[in-house]
Amino acid sequence: MATNILDLKGRVGLVTGAGQGVGRQVALHFANNGAGGVVVNDYVLERAEAVAVEVERAGCAALAVQSDVTDFASVAEMFERARDRFGGVDILVNNAGNAGADPRAVSRKPFWEQEPKDWQPFLGTNLFGVLNCVRMAVPAMIEKNYGKLVTVISDAGRVGEPNLEIYSGAKAGAAGFMRAIAKALGRYSITANCVALGATRTPAIAAATSNEEFAKRMLKSYTIRRFGEPEDAANMILFLSSDASSWMTGQTVPVNGGYSFAM
Ligand SMILES: NC(=O)c1ccc[n+]([C@@H]2O[C@H](COP(=O)([O-])OP(=O)(O)OC[C@H]3O[C@@H](n4cnc5c(N)ncnc54)[C@H](O)[C@@H]3O)[C@@H](O)[C@H]2O)c1
Repeated sequence: MATNILDLKGRVGLVTGAGQGVGRQVALHFANNGAGGVVVNDYVLERAEAVAVEVERAGCAALAVQSDVTDFASVAEMFERARDRFGGVDILVNNAGNAGADPRAVSRKPFWEQEPKDWQPFLGTNLFGVLNCVRMAVPAMIEKNYGKLVTVISDAGRVGEPNLEIYSGAKAGAAGFMRAIAKALGRYSITANCVALGATRTPAIAAATSNEEFAKRMLKSYTIRRFGEPEDAANMILFLSSDASSWMTGQTVPVNGGYSFAM
């Protein structure tokens, strides 16, 4: 009989920014690969609720939670609700991100013309959001002597992206944090890894990927000449969320169609 090495064995996952794009696909992958429950987070409630319905349709229990990951109090409340419903969270996927497509963001001025307030949206979601969620997830994981932490960063954080300097720095900061927390938590059998995405066809970059001229130019930089799909990202996130990756921690795995081969 074939076995699914990615089976999540009834464990509970919490996915931030799961109302669309990569996060939605991760929630569905969890549902289809043996999760015992999925906490579907988004700061847009209707999005979270719609994905929770899809998760339930796949036969998995779901809890939609509206929470802005930049707000520590609201993150704490989200984890409390997850504990009440599912008894805790075994897998945290820090997926919510802000690359500037969101209308709450951001200055498009060059960095040297920006003000510190222009940096906040990038630092808030991409860095502080990760810290807030990991802070709330870890105590129960230590108690259980089990946990999987996965953070979605970007190739921008590995190799740098002009005009996205703060985004690049925030994602690199999140990766550095994940490496350090991996070292702190390894003795509790908690792993902490990152996935660094290249351009992936989600609503965040729909305008860019559907502009033929722009897409053609951009794809010249990709060894595999297509944009990523949410499934490409979710496949690696599922692996890092499963016991198949139990001897892997502190790593950043690029899923980027060969955009860059930098270490
Ligand atoms: N799409 C790409 O090309 C690409 C490339 C590199 C990295 N990434 C990263 O992948 C992750 C997912 O990106 P995506 O393309 O699916 O994005 P998306 O914008 O399509 O979806 C993100 C979801 O997160 C939610 N969200 C945003 N900020 C939030 C917050 N503070 N609290 C709670 N929810 C919040 C949004 O409402 C949205 O539903 C992000 O971390 C992003 O930086 C994406």
